[in-house]
Amino acid sequence: MNVELILQDPLSVPSPLLVLLFPQGADAASGVLASADALVGGELKRALERGDLKGKKEETLLLFPRRDQGPSLLAEAKGPGRPSGGKGSIRPSKAKGPRSVDGDVGPERVLMVGAGAPGDLDAETLRRLMGRAVRVAEGLKLKEISAWLDPSWPPGEALVAQGMTEGAVLAAWRFQEFKTSRDDDGPSPELGRLVLVSQGDGEAARLGLRIGLAQARGENLARTLQARPGNVATPTHLADEARRLAKEHGLKVTVLGPKEMEKEKMGALLAVARGSEEEPKLIALEYRGGRKGDRPIGLVGKGLTFDTGGISIKPASGMEDMKYDMSGGAAVLGVMQAAAELALPVNLVGIIPSTENLLSGKAVKPGDVVRTREGKTVEVINTDAEGRLILADALSFARTFDPVALVDCATLTGAALVALGNHASAVLGNDEELIRQLRDAGDRSGQRCWPLPLWREYRDQLDSNVADLMNVGGRHAGAITAAAFLKEFVGEVPWAHLDIAGTAYGEGKLSYQRKGGYGVPTRLLLEWVRSRLT
Ligand code: BES
Ligand code: ZN
Ligand code: ZN
Repeated sequence: MNVELILQDPLSVPSPLLVLLFPQGADAASGVLASADALVGGELKRALERGDLKGKKEETLLLFPRRDQGPSLLAEAKGPGRPSGGKGSIRPSKAKGPRSVDGDVGPERVLMVGAGAPGDLDAETLRRLMGRAVRVAEGLKLKEISAWLDPSWPPGEALVAQGMTEGAVLAAWRFQEFKTSRDDDGPSPELGRLVLVSQGDGEAARLGLRIGLAQARGENLARTLQARPGNVATPTHLADEARRLAKEHGLKVTVLGPKEMEKEKMGALLAVARGSEEEPKLIALEYRGGRKGDRPIGLVGKGLTFDTGGISIKPASGMEDMKYDMSGGAAVLGVMQAAAELALPVNLVGIIPSTENLLSGKAVKPGDVVRTREGKTVEVINTDAEGRLILADALSFARTFDPVALVDCATLTGAALVALGNHASAVLGNDEELIRQLRDAGDRSGQRCWPLPLWREYRDQLDSNVADLMNVGGRHAGAITAAAFLKEFVGEVPWAHLDIAGTAYGEGKLSYQRKGGYGVPTRLLLEWVRSRLT
């Protein structure tokens, strides 16, 4: 989807549908709302009086301009408060004479979207409201919509534009690669354009739009990769996608195959890959937007393209969802794309260890001992705890880039889902300030994360009697012992781990989501990276 900003009276912009967000208690007798009311022949005021529109979050009401009315509508339209080319409103060149009445300018439909209490109007609410508007537009099979952006809404003009853009672009994303026939009754796939209409000076809105568009596109890339099935989105496919990004955006890409992994002594990653015919890949993407000597930020994403559990096999029911076990890697690719698109002044390195976790005569077995790149030995108690094995070698490898900070994201444990449900990722690490930054970025992005402790006692649960550590720590505190395992491989680097097992995919409850992958934590990581620039 494309998003543009124009500075104009929203009711003079030709559009199949104009979205007007309507905070509770907003004054429909003045400004844009009064103009809209005049356009629809007083239906807005009547709807408010009848209680058909209360301003509740995501409530919608579709209104139609009264094109059949002549001069009386015009008289009404000139009533008090109508923005008639006064301060801040730029007259459209096309709009001469009565707008919309002729049918050649102005919106064909007006969609009121309740926005809740004005005090609650934050970026996440704006995403959900625009998501709802896009769902209505889809139902009408529209190809484009416009939306009024009021620069005076509480988050401020830039964040309003960013939130609205993200909500719409995320909501409009669809995955149709494997649909051979389009259902005629289904929603149109081609909502391709959003025009934000503001009457501010536009500068802040333009910036917010640009950020929102890049962040949502990055997230949509992650969602597309998540949606692709395991037989398509193989480790080789992820490496090809990384190469494509590198070519398109001038990034440096390095892909290690099994031979290079042997040379790097990545015994843990190779142990997981043994059970599969698919070649494992370790992808390193470098974006250098910062100064030459500046140490990069390291992002590591679990790219397990299908997790059967291995010899410690998972139950059949729901196993298809284990194609999403590469969600962390997908998000890292989304972040790299958006960072390059925004030309962020920062150096980034994205590392994605990618393999399948399958069973075969060669597969790693419970009780096997493997040697990691760090030299530490691991007793594999459960082959389904494979994420931490591949991340161990990836984190160790990431340190060769001398990162200022390392953040990994991984669908690592069912225990994270048990602890926090679908509402937050778990965040753990060795640096309180880094964890605080990630929590803030999570709040701003609508992709929340919540801390769990990482005390020494949890590490003790991993003690092995044959190797340096075991890959599982017993039934208790599963999300924490997984992080305690990873901590063994980050050395002194400030590091945090996001367990996204509960947040990476789901039923698509929010208006801007769909059933399947959510692209989490693409926006969280981008907000965090950007927060370090100022
Ligand atoms: N990929 C899974 C974690 C997962 C579970 C992701 C549910 C999404 C939803 C991971 O590799 C795994 O299987 N973890 C095990 C660890 C256990 C064996 C210690 C788990 O959580 O059950
Ligand atoms: Zn597993
Ligand atoms: Zn897994």
